[in-house]
Amino acid sequence: MSILKILKYPDPRLRTVAKEVEIFDKSLDNLSTDMLETMYAENGIGLAATQVDVHIRLVVIDISDDRDTPLIFVNPEVKILDNKSLVPCEEGCLSIPGASVEVSRPDKIELHWSDLKGKQHKSNPEGLLAVCIQHEIDHLEGKLLVDYLSPLKRSRLKNRATR
Ligand code: NI
Repeated sequence: MSILKILKYPDPRLRTVAKEVEIFDKSLDNLSTDMLETMYAENGIGLAATQVDVHIRLVVIDISDDRDTPLIFVNPEVKILDNKSLVPCEEGCLSIPGASVEVSRPDKIELHWSDLKGKQHKSNPEGLLAVCIQHEIDHLEGKLLVDYLSPLKRSRLKNRATR
């Protein structure tokens, strides 16, 4: 196991669109273990492979208070259930230290994903888990929290990040 380096905004590699995972092997296992270790070391609640410069559709999450409930999502895909009930939430990101951005997202979603063995699953996450998985899927699309800001606020944040 090892702690991986997290790419920081405005690193252009964070804009890479991740590829579908097709091979479920030991290296996928190892990467998800390292990503969990990295996320815990940084006190994050979620991490996308994109953030450690591996451009495949893999996400790890732990929203539990005791940090003992790791979740791994391979090829996660959201089907929005209720697009009318957008709920605002203050989000942070390990790739943009210190930033807190209010984003409104659907709080009830249908999620499809595979586990590390390639078995497919479906669930209906709500609340923080729904927010977190949508944030991480944004990373897989090369999208960042700053994209939800006005251009002025975004350039202020970028200046701060590159100073
Ligand atoms: Ni993030």
